[in-house]
Amino acid sequence: MTKKRPDIIAIDGPAASGKSTLGRRLADALGYLFFDTGVMYRAVTWLVLQRGINIRDEKSVSALAEETPIDVLPASRSDGRACDVLMDGKDITWETRRPEVDANVSLISTYAGVRHAMSEQQRRIGLRGKVVMVGRDIGTVVLPQADLKIYLDASAPERARRRHQENLARGIESNYDEILARMIERDYIDSTRDVAPLRAADDAVVLNSDELSADEVFEQAWRLSE
Ligand code: DC
Repeated sequence: MTKKRPDIIAIDGPAASGKSTLGRRLADALGYLFFDTGVMYRAVTWLVLQRGINIRDEKSVSALAEETPIDVLPASRSDGRACDVLMDGKDITWETRRPEVDANVSLISTYAGVRHAMSEQQRRIGLRGKVVMVGRDIGTVVLPQADLKIYLDASAPERARRRHQENLARGIESNYDEILARMIERDYIDSTRDVAPLRAADDAVVLNSDELSADEVFEQAWRLSE
């Protein structure tokens, strides 16, 4: 008897653990939609900063998240993006990657109202199936019914080293110690928040990529999806 391929695949894990690289490859190989849910939290953060709203004003930030539809669509350009992020029809894909968004997104994603609004939108897309969804709480909260759950982990120094190398390769100024400090701070916020903290679902397969290349991580995940 042939086993059915998982229809919904959830990949969770800390920042820079290689989730997006893995998710994208897996989605390409399976012909599935790749959906990086972090971009939605980034989009709200960008809008909050753009509007000059105080990021500590939980009520206003949550209200904005609730009234703003965000579209995540397959990439329309090959400029390195994994998908298009649209807000009110405007392409804000690269705005969501700005350093000021990096610095504030973890705080905004602790707000229950923001999480509720984002999770609803994500669930609607995920339930259509044939999807690889990447985030922090996909297997635990957004789609606990996912057919395959992977928790991709790596140590903070290794993740900081990779981010540092990526920056250097792109010609961006980069300081390893600073990246590591920010990484540890974001891990702390993401994993200790009250609502939907970062953790592996009980039925997730945990992969640690410290000693594995991107190809090896992909091969292991591919085997799990067969
Ligand atoms: O994966 P990323 O770095 O783009 O995620 C940005 C932030 O969004 C991260 O600090 C935590 C938050 N996030 C979340 O809380 N839940 C998700 N499903 C995805 C991201």
